[in-house]
Parts: sequence; structure tokens; C-alpha cells
Amino acid sequence: MVWRLQSDRNQLQILLLRLLCLLPTGLHVRSVDLNRSTDNITVRQGDTAVLRCNIEDRSSKVAWLNRSGIIFAGQDKWSLDPRVELDKRSVLEYSLRIQKVDVFDEGLYTCTVQTQHHTKTTQVYLIVQVPPKISNISADITVNEGSNVTLVCIANGRPDPIITWRHLNPTAREFEGEEEYLDIQGITREQSGKYECKAANEVASADVKQVRVTVNYPPIITESKSIEAFAGKQAYLRCEASAEPKPDFEWYKDDTRIFRLSSAQGLEIKNMGNRSTLMVANVTEEHYGNYTCVAANKLGVTNTSLYLYKRVIPTKPIPAKERGSNAHFKQKGPGTAIVDNGSSNLAASLWLMVTALVCLICKC
Ligand SMILES: *[C@@H]1O[C@H](CO)[C@@H](O)[C@H](O)[C@H]1NC(C)=O
Ligand SMILES: *[C@@H]1O[C@H](CO)[C@@H](O)[C@H](O)[C@H]1NC(C)=O
Ligand SMILES: *[C@@H]1O[C@H](CO)[C@@H](O)[C@H](O)[C@H]1NC(C)=O
Ligand SMILES: *[C@@H]1O[C@H](CO)[C@@H](O)[C@H](O)[C@H]1NC(C)=O
Ligand SMILES: *[C@@H]1O[C@H](CO)[C@@H](O)[C@H](O)[C@H]1NC(C)=O
Ligand SMILES: *[C@@H]1O[C@H](CO)[C@@H](O)[C@H](O)[C@H]1NC(C)=O
Ligand SMILES: *[C@@H]1O[C@H](CO)[C@@H](O)[C@H](O)[C@H]1NC(C)=O
Ligand SMILES: *[C@@H]1O[C@H](CO)[C@@H](O)[C@H](O)[C@H]1NC(C)=O
Ligand SMILES: *[C@@H]1O[C@H](CO)[C@@H](O)[C@H](O)[C@H]1NC(C)=O
Ligand SMILES: *[C@@H]1O[C@H](CO)[C@@H](O)[C@H](O)[C@H]1NC(C)=O
Repeated sequence: MVWRLQSDRNQLQILLLRLLCLLPTGLHVRSVDLNRSTDNITVRQGDTAVLRCNIEDRSSKVAWLNRSGIIFAGQDKWSLDPRVELDKRSVLEYSLRIQKVDVFDEGLYTCTVQTQHHTKTTQVYLIVQVPPKISNISADITVNEGSNVTLVCIANGRPDPIITWRHLNPTAREFEGEEEYLDIQGITREQSGKYECKAANEVASADVKQVRVTVNYPPIITESKSIEAFAGKQAYLRCEASAEPKPDFEWYKDDTRIFRLSSAQGLEIKNMGNRSTLMVANVTEEHYGNYTCVAANKLGVTNTSLYLYKRVIPTKPIPAKERGSNAHFKQKGPGTAIVDNGSSNLAASLWLMVTALVCLICKC
């Protein structure tokens, strides 16, 4: 018995009550007291709801109705739903118990109690809550820098969950607004990384899911240094590039490509992710000179020049221009080749000793 006349609930219920003979047909009823305050009861999906109703005396005629039909008339169950039963812990109780409550159970329930000349109704509005659950989130994506990206996160729950987006690393930025869609216009390399979608309502702890956004960009060389090396020793020329996807490296000596294993030239290239090393196993005169490191990926190519300088054993720790200055003297770092003629060596050493001595005497 399903009534579709929800437009006028009052009329429907009066009709139902008449059907149940709870209202004498002869009695002209303008209205049943259906406007009394409605209690809300809130139940989580899957839990059991107990809708309370009390009878004043045993001779009352009683019924439970929902928006579309009669559930119980007296002790007779009209509903076919096995989850529904009466909860009678005392003779004067006429409560309704609904097990494994689901969202379609939400709505108004009416308990009518008719005594001699008086009909009382108790209305309960059943609210069904559902914990937040993310049902769909964008798959991990790879885009080129400058693209417009839209991430989507769809969540269910009752009440409707509030959806927030967060860029986890490296910025840990929180996005304002409660949005299923996160639009990133002209995405930059700094905006790559993990994004977290969080769906929250007051029912249960938030549901959280992540999506990884990879932003491709052309290489830029971040580290490359000219070095000095002794003849007869090993030397390493290093080149590091930032790029997505990871760059491929090439090395050139002047304009000649060096191949990965140029053992004939005593050279070896080692690539590790974003870094490439050119090893010179045993530096000889022809190794000194101008090298070029080229870093490339599908989005671009860039290069830088590095120099392998000849390193000379410094013959003398004190550079000429510091001579004659007083007690403060600095030693140039290693690797600074000092071109000087030997003749002044002795004088310099003497000068150093004298200065040191004077200093010592002064301190005493
Ligand atoms: C019920 O409330 C509606 C609007 O709130 C009102 O128009 C109607 O007269 C009320 N009925 C009774 C029986 O109080
Ligand atoms: C029941 O809930 C509705 C909204 O969900 C609210 O407007 C109303 O005041 C509540 N009634 C009671 C008695 O709490
Ligand atoms: C009302 O109760 C009838 C009978 O128990 C049931 O079939 C129907 O699904 C219920 N409707 C709502 C909105 O709870
Ligand atoms: C998730 O959303 C995407 C894009 O909106 C859609 O193509 C896909 O079919 C959805 N998947 C599911 C399981 O709903
Ligand atoms: C990104 O969106 C902006 C604004 O809607 C538009 O002007 C631009 O052409 C879009 N860029 C791409 C690559 O689609
Ligand atoms: C480096 O080369 C020189 C000359 O070719 C040779 O004398 C020397 O033994 C080599 N050193 C090493 C470590 O191989
Ligand atoms: C190179 O890769 C390492 C390890 O993956 C990373 O720590 C470093 O930041 C990267 N350098 C650049 C310039 O991308
Ligand atoms: C090294 O070679 C590059 C490219 O061939 C050139 O641009 C640069 O000027 C050279 N550097 C020196 C110091 O010769
Ligand atoms: C290095 O880049 C310059 C311009 O940026 C280019 O002219 C040159 O040919 C490149 N060198 C190599 C070895 O790719
Ligand atoms: C180095 O030697 C040259 C000639 O051999 C001389 O002219 C010059 O003055 C010397 N320089 C110093 C710093 O002694």
C-alpha cells in the first residue's frame, strides 16, 4: 500500500487514519494535531534506529506511518520490510525499531494514538548519516609545464562532505574553497608532487586520498664547475641538471663528442639520474682544455662549458703582494697556481720568520 500523495501529508494521514478506523468517519475532523514539534533522531547508516512512542492507556488505538504508508496498525505489521519491528518493553510503549538503517529510511515517521475523543500524534524525523567516502579521484597524471590541470575528487556522505585539496610536497599548500574540482592554470614545476583530497563531515573521520602530478620541463644545468687537475692523477668533471623527465647527458671535448666508454682516450662517462660525471683516469696534457656538458630531454636541450685546468704544485705559500705587510698573512687556497720566479723564495722565507718573531716578542 503505497501512497504517492505526498503533496498534502496532512490530508493523506487523515485519510489513512480513517482507513484504520482510528478516526470515526462521522466525526468532522478539521485537522489532526499534526503540527506539533517534530523531534529529529540521527542514526548512522547501518545502525539501529528506535523511534519512541508511548500510549496513555491500553485501550488506545495505535499506528505507525511513514510518508508513504502504514508500517504498523496496532500489532499488525503492514510493512513487508523485515528490518522493521515494534519495540515494546512495556505495555504502554509502542516504539518502532528499524535495523540496518539506510538512506532511503530517512524521513518523517508518525505515531498516532487515539483514545476516546482525542488523537495524539508523535512525529519523528529520522536523519540518516553516512560517513564521508571518496568514490572517485583523478588518476596520477604527467603534464608539460604550462598546461592547465584539473583534478577531481568525488565524495559521498550525509551530510554532504566538505572537500578540501592540499599540495603535500614540496609546498604543503592548502587550497581555499570547498571544491570537488581543483583547477591549476599554467602549472609550474614547483607545483608538481602529491595532492591530497580530504572529504570530511561530522559523522566520522575524514576520508583522504592522493594523486600525483608530474610536471615535465626542459633541463636546466644546476651545477658544473671547472676544475684543476695534476697530470698523472684522476680528475672528475661533474654536471648536474634539473629536468623532468630525467635528462640524458652528452659530453664534448671542444667540438668532438666523447662516447660513454672512450677508454682509448682514458675517459669514462657515468650517469646517475640528474647527474653526469666525466672521469679522466690519468690526466695528461691533451686532456686539459674545454669540455661541454649537454643535458637533454624530450622538452629541450641545454649545455654548459667547463674547463679542465692544469694544476701546478705551489712552490711558495705566500703570494708576492702580501710580502711586506705586517703580521697578518693569508695563505692562498690550494689549487691557486702561483707563477713566480725562484729568486725571491729565500727573501720571503726570511721575511716570514722575522715577522713571526717580532710578533711573538710583542705578545710577551
Ligand atoms: C500547521 O502549520 C501550518 C503552517 O505552519 C499552518 O498553516 C496550519 O494551520 C497548521 N495546522 C494546525 C492544525 O495547526
Ligand atoms: C530537525 O532538523 C531540522 C533540519 O535538519 C531543523 O531545522 C529542526 O530545527 C530540527 N528539529 C529539532 C526538534 O531539532
Ligand atoms: C514507508 O514504509 C513503507 C512500508 O513499510 C515502505 O515500503 C517505504 O519504503 C517507506 N518509505 C519511506 C520513505 O521510508
Ligand atoms: C572517475 O572520474 C573520471 C573522470 O571524471 C571518469 O572518467 C571515471 O569513469 C570515474 N570512475 C568511476 C569509477 O566513477
Ligand atoms: C589555460 O587556461 C587559460 C584560461 O582559461 C587559457 O587562456 C589558456 O589558453 C589555457 N592554456 C592551455 C594550454 O590550454
Ligand atoms: C699515467 O700516465 C703516465 C704516462 O702515460 C704513466 O707514467 C703513469 O703510470 C700513469 N699513471 C697511472 C696511475 O696509471
Ligand atoms: C638530483 O637528484 C637528487 C636525487 O634524486 C635530488 O636530491 C636532487 O635535488 C636533484 N637535483 C636537481 C637539480 O634536480
Ligand atoms: C669552450 O667551448 C664553448 C663551446 O664550444 C665556447 O662557447 C666557450 O667559449 C669555450 N670556452 C673557452 C674558455 O674557451
Ligand atoms: C651549446 O648551446 C649553444 C647555444 O645555446 C649552441 O650554439 C651550441 O652548439 C651548443 N653546443 C653543443 C655542444 O651542443
Ligand atoms: C722574476 O725574474 C725576472 C727575470 O728573471 C725579473 O725581471 C723579475 O723582477 C722577477 N720577479 C720577482 C717578483 O722577483
